Amino acid sequence: MAERASKGKGTSSLTGDTPMGPTGRPYHGFATPPELTSHGPARIIALCNQKGGVGKTTTTINLAASLAEYGRKVLAVDFDPQGALSAGLGIQTHDQPTVYDLLLDTKRDPRDAIVASSVENLDVLPANIDLSAAEVHLVNEVARETILARVLRHVAKDYDVILIDCQPSLGLLTVNALTASHGVLIPLECEFFALRGVALLIETIDKVRDRLNPAITLDGVLATMYDPRTLHSREVLERVVEAFGDDVLETVIGRTVKFPDASVSGMPITEFAPEHAAAQAYLRLARELVARGAVA
Ligand SMILES: Nc1ncnc2c1ncn2[C@@H]1O[C@H](COP(=O)(O)OP(=O)(O)OP(=O)(O)O)[C@@H](O)[C@H]1O
Ligand SMILES: [Mg+2]
Repeated sequence: MAERASKGKGTSSLTGDTPMGPTGRPYHGFATPPELTSHGPARIIALCNQKGGVGKTTTTINLAASLAEYGRKVLAVDFDPQGALSAGLGIQTHDQPTVYDLLLDTKRDPRDAIVASSVENLDVLPANIDLSAAEVHLVNEVARETILARVLRHVAKDYDVILIDCQPSLGLLTVNALTASHGVLIPLECEFFALRGVALLIETIDKVRDRLNPAITLDGVLATMYDPRTLHSREVLERVVEAFGDDVLETVIGRTVKFPDASVSGMPITEFAPEHAAAQAYLRLARELVARGAVA
C-alpha cells in the first residue's frame, strides 16, 4: 500500500495531519501513476456482485476511462446481456459482432468484435441480448468455464488492463469471467442488505480458485453510492470495513445523480463532468489500484 501524500489530479495536497477517510483510515490522495514505457500483457479484473444495481457497470466504465486517462491501454468487456456497459459508452451493437460471437467460436479473432470508444486508450468488447443465449449454448461444451479466458488470451498482450463487467448472477457467464481473471473487484452499495449474498459470492470465488483458477485474488471491495449525510450509509460502510478490513478500498464512491446523467449521454463521467467529485473519485480509485499493484 502506498503511504504517499497526494500529487494526484484534483485532490488537495495533504499538509499536516492526513485527514480520516470515510473508511476510518487516513485519507491518502495516491500519487499520479508513472507513465508506462511499454504495454501489456494485461492484468484482467472482473467486477462482480450477483446483487443487481450496486454499481458494477458504472465502476467498469469510469474506472476504465480513468485508467485510460493515465495512459493505460484498457479493454472493457461487456459480459452482461443487458449491454449496459456498451450503451453507457455509446457503442451500438446491432449488426456488429459481440462477445457472444467470440464465445461461440474461440478461434475467431476478438479484434473482429472490439471497437474503439470515444475515450483515447479505451476499447470495448460489446455485448447485447444475444449473450443471454450463451449459458444454454455453452453448457454442453468441453471446458465450458474457460471459454472467455481462451477468447481474451488472444488480445491480452495488446492491453495493460482488461475489466470485465459481470451480470448480476453467479451463473456460467460469471464463472467464466472469474476463471479468466487475475483479480476480482466487488462493488457494494452502501444500503441495507449490502452484505447479504456476499458470503455466497466469496464462496463462489473460493470454488473457482480451488477448481479452475488458483491464482485469482480479491483486489478489493469498493463502497459505492455512499452518502455521508446519512447515518445509515455511514453504518453500512462501518459494517463493510468490519467484514473486509483492509480489502475495503480507501476510495469510496459517493451517491450522485451525475452517474445516470452521464450514462444517458453515453460518456464516462470523467468526460461528461471531469471536475465533478464523482469523476475525481474514479480517478482516485484508478490511482489507488495502481498503488496497490492491482494494475500496472
Ligand atoms: N455512485 C452512484 N450514485 C448514484 N447513482 C449511481 C451511482 N453508481 C451507479 N448509479 C446508478 O445506479 C444504477 C445502477 O448502477 P449500475 O448499472 O452501475 O449497477 P450494476 O451493478 O451494474 O447493475 P446490474 O446488476 O443491473 O448490472 C444506474 O442507474 C446508475 O446510473
Ligand atoms: Mg451492470
